[in-house]
Amino acid sequence: MPGFEIFGDDERREVEEVLDTGVLFRYGFDEARKGHWKALAFEKELSERLDTGYCHLCSSGTAALSTALASCGIGAGDEVIVPPFTFVATVEAVLNSGAVPVFAEIDETLCLDPEGIEPVLTSRTKAVLPVHMCGAMARIDAITEICDRKGLILIEDACQALGATFSGRALGTFGRMGCFSFDPVKTITCGEGGAVVTDDRDLYLIAEAYADHGHDHIGNDRGLEGHSILGTNFRISELNAAVGLAQLRKLDFILERQRSYKKKLMEGLSGIPGVSFRDVPDRDGDSATFLSIFLPDGPRAREATAALGRVGVDSCFYWYDNNWHYIRQWEHIKGLRSPAKLHASTLLSCPDYSKVELPRSDAIMGRTISMLIKLTWTEEELSRRIEKVRGVLTR
Ligand SMILES: Cc1ncc(COP(=O)(O)O)c(C=O)c1O
Repeated sequence: MPGFEIFGDDERREVEEVLDTGVLFRYGFDEARKGHWKALAFEKELSERLDTGYCHLCSSGTAALSTALASCGIGAGDEVIVPPFTFVATVEAVLNSGAVPVFAEIDETLCLDPEGIEPVLTSRTKAVLPVHMCGAMARIDAITEICDRKGLILIEDACQALGATFSGRALGTFGRMGCFSFDPVKTITCGEGGAVVTDDRDLYLIAEAYADHGHDHIGNDRGLEGHSILGTNFRISELNAAVGLAQLRKLDFILERQRSYKKKLMEGLSGIPGVSFRDVPDRDGDSATFLSIFLPDGPRAREATAALGRVGVDSCFYWYDNNWHYIRQWEHIKGLRSPAKLHASTLLSCPDYSKVELPRSDAIMGRTISMLIKLTWTEEELSRRIEKVRGVLTR
């Protein structure tokens, strides 16, 4: 995803302001920082942008997920429903919280299928964690309705979907908490960083304390701050926040360019027999970082991906064979391989993940190819690309 494509003077200026003060820490040093509060400014602008009450920046999207899970009180023995198509971080965050990831089927949105939730519910289910993959949305209205009806906590992994909306509302703001990533391959990047957002002030206060060793951030003497809870260090540095702030201000440009390129790609690739597009419940809200297509079957999708590579069409992903985004190859998770002993409750509560069967997800992922949309293409490069992709898909 494109943040890394458009680094420039704006990022440099924001970082230089931080370097000039010498204050790289987000808290305290009020006088020395000469009015520069990059993390705070980023949080304010991101909450306004997403129209959400509160935002807390973290050191990564993974840290944001862990913070959201902890803040929502999800821990030992709780079950959390997750999709099998995501980045492994979603699953790791659940396992590291002491809870149990329970896999449910995806649908043609490439995200958690609302109808996949009820079949895996148990008395231990505490939360549902849908992932808005590749820049677009799950059927979040139906998922929200199920969570409300069943009294389940909804946390959204919107790490790949900054700027995307459903019915005009930002992804990440439907659940109790939403998580974003600003790692080097996200819509905007700050090197490493993430955010949790919520409308609930109490949850926000827990999150910002949890991500900083439980500090309550009251007063201006860090040594005298209260600690009402145990926490950890998921803090973002001012340098990273400064880069992210400059990038956030480019989000509208990024979305506009991606959407226009994706529209052209879709027009250029429409009408090819046997090729259809991913189901996007609200096309206007798609952040358009990827175009995902379905081929008639797995062998044809795998062969087409290889053929695209041969004719020089870069950045095409066949997730079904990918080690990090689809459950099929997650041997380390299937074996719960950990460098140290896992919590007894995790070991006792987790099912044998090597036996999890998700036939519908397998069938969908086996047929899916996703193509990255790049900001830096020229119109000519885009036209050539459409020609080459059409050539491969019509063979
Ligand atoms: C869906 C999803 N969730 C979580 C993460 C983790 O984000 P980070 O790399 O910032 O820890 C990623 C990153 O790739 C992701 O794609």
